[in-house]
Amino acid sequence: MSDSVIFRKMTVADVAAVHRIEELSFTLPWTKDAFYHEMVTNEHAYYVVAEMEEGIVGYCGMWLVIDESHVTNVAILPEHRGKKLGERLMVAAIEAAKQQGAVMMSLEVRVSNEVAQNLYRKLGFKNGGIRKGYYTDDHEDALVMWVRFDE
Ligand SMILES: CC(C)(COP(=O)(O)OP(=O)(O)OC[C@H]1O[C@@H](n2cnc3c(N)ncnc32)[C@H](O)[C@@H]1OP(=O)(O)O)[C@@H](O)C(=O)NCCC(=O)NCCS
Repeated sequence: MSDSVIFRKMTVADVAAVHRIEELSFTLPWTKDAFYHEMVTNEHAYYVVAEMEEGIVGYCGMWLVIDESHVTNVAILPEHRGKKLGERLMVAAIEAAKQQGAVMMSLEVRVSNEVAQNLYRKLGFKNGGIRKGYYTDDHEDALVMWVRFDE
């Protein structure tokens, strides 16, 4: 089977595959319905998927509002982690955000999620503030991270 990956805009046909990765990745997964609504009713939503011959292996969701992009969620299928796919996916998402007119990107990440923080830092993200008790399951704090594309 080919190892090649393409990065493309998500469509409503990808909802089930993306939702499966979401469930395998987060303790507070979004519902399938939530992804469906992102695709059909949220005009600010722009999602990028990573696709291999076997199917969708990762996704990065964003909300694009005027010149700002905010990452809603990003995940790679567990068996494909550690192979630079997350990094390539984020680079593709940043490229898409720039093309849509964004000049900065922000996100929240669990303070304990060092793997994701390392990835974001590698791509130039800086630490912003802390959102106390942001995650509703265990009240863990969120670290806000952000990057300006012109810096
Ligand atoms: C976070 C995630 C998307 C990273 O994707 P990935 O494909 O595994 O990461 P990559 O192989 O592209 O690695 C890119 C960088 O991330 C960091 N990283 C990746 N795996 C790491 C690990 N096991 N330990 C520490 N840092 C790691 C490193 O900075 C790495 O760059 P380097 O290899 O040059 O050091 C993936 O681990 C994931 O889906 N995690 C579960 C969901 C999640 O936590 N999402 C983020 C929510 S905010």
